[in-house]
Amino acid sequence: MSFDTLFNWNDMPDLLEKYLPIWLNEKTVDKPSVANLNNEERERLKNLSFQDQGKDPNEILDIMSNDVYKKLWKIDHPRNMAFVPSPVSPLSSIVEICNSIFNPYAAGYENSEGTNILENKTIRFLAGALGYDEEQAGGFSTSGGSMANFSAFILARDQKLKQEDFAKARIYATDQAHSSIAKAARLLGFLPQQITKVDTDDDFKMIPADLRHKILADKENGFCPFLIVATAGTTNTGVVDPLSEIADIRDEFNLWLHVDGAYGASAALSSYRSILSGIERTDSVTWDAHKWLFQTLSCSFLIVRDGKLLHNSFHSSAEYLEAVEDDNATFAETNGWDISIEMTRPARTMKLWFTFQVAGMETIQKALDHGFESIVYLAKLFENKKDWRIVSEPHMSTLNVRFEPEGWSKEMTDAAQVYLCDENLKTGFATYITTKLLGDKVIRFCAPHPDLTKADLEKITTDLFERGAELKVNPDIISNQEDL
Ligand SMILES: Cc1ncc(COP(=O)(O)O)c(C=O)c1O
Repeated sequence: MSFDTLFNWNDMPDLLEKYLPIWLNEKTVDKPSVANLNNEERERLKNLSFQDQGKDPNEILDIMSNDVYKKLWKIDHPRNMAFVPSPVSPLSSIVEICNSIFNPYAAGYENSEGTNILENKTIRFLAGALGYDEEQAGGFSTSGGSMANFSAFILARDQKLKQEDFAKARIYATDQAHSSIAKAARLLGFLPQQITKVDTDDDFKMIPADLRHKILADKENGFCPFLIVATAGTTNTGVVDPLSEIADIRDEFNLWLHVDGAYGASAALSSYRSILSGIERTDSVTWDAHKWLFQTLSCSFLIVRDGKLLHNSFHSSAEYLEAVEDDNATFAETNGWDISIEMTRPARTMKLWFTFQVAGMETIQKALDHGFESIVYLAKLFENKKDWRIVSEPHMSTLNVRFEPEGWSKEMTDAAQVYLCDENLKTGFATYITTKLLGDKVIRFCAPHPDLTKADLEKITTDLFERGAELKVNPDIISNQEDL
């Protein structure tokens, strides 16, 4: 087997025949949801140098299979409930392979017409699911929610802010908005004080009255409000801000209303669609299919209500593009580089198109519903459990709890949450980590995977309750805890 020409495609089937079963074996649910490198493995990887002569691909693929890809937090494992995990369908992986072999240049309409037709159709379908007019709407795929949010900021700035008002501009978001919101503002040159923080209620949702009050106050002080960022499915608790009432305020002041639905926009395809009520009145929505629409990394979208605005903000031309430019193109035939930041990009949406085609929308709906139902079941297991408090009720597929033995100090209780998560991680059975709500450490579970079972949740909670009970009797074990 020789790859000294770099282009030996003929050996690929044999390699895949050997390694695909090994890799797929890792997808079985009895495998740990998390595994970390040990010191010996870490050193071995660090010492692998590049040499003048190439190596046998089997030797390198063995290392990759055993030491690299097995030793990670499997974010698509059914029992991974850390971050906002990303259950992945093999349907998505199949197209990932197809894309990587055919390598379509998806940025240019003419360069890959078939993928462009299907990608645009899928984006319109997503727009329709949000309640936008499919014909008027537009959008594009991008690498992630951060890029989609950043792109929305550019649209909002171009549509709602005069250049001379830049220094006086004001953006509105709550402290539950994802960190990529503050990052987008910073990257566009806004200062931290240009984000006006809107208060949240007991459910961590934006309070519309406070939003209105702050916009009025900013205007009175000579500032220029231009963008409201609401969230559909916050990272911490999964809640949806009250979108209809926020849209009324957007109308009153003629602002741009962006919804970060990176996590929660997928609810539009579930039986729980009504929790997104009002989303059809917003100007743009971020939607990550690599979070809760069963796609591999990466596959995210910015969907906009008025598709032609994309061209205004992102159009670019150059002499080397003239041959493939078409100034009269409709949105459906636009070159990707004219409607988004990226130029060269993969045909990411093909993964989603194939998944929808093969699975069918009923299966997608059931798979999403399972996440809503799993988290309600998990919450039941914590209800009335001594020493445990449900800090945020189930929203989307997220629940926050806190272990709170009576008489413990805040510091001790905070440390207990971290300890309990770390001890669990050592088992590899399930993955969950802490976040902070109202200044307190809490344990956050996010359970969107359709293959997560009630029995899994019962074992996860039984283990956690046992560890909590041990800790209550012997709190000193926290300070004696070994590093992971
Ligand atoms: C609500 C929300 N918005 C945006 C993001 C950022 O998305 P990405 O990691 O795809 O850039 C996340 C990631 O967790 C998120 O939860």
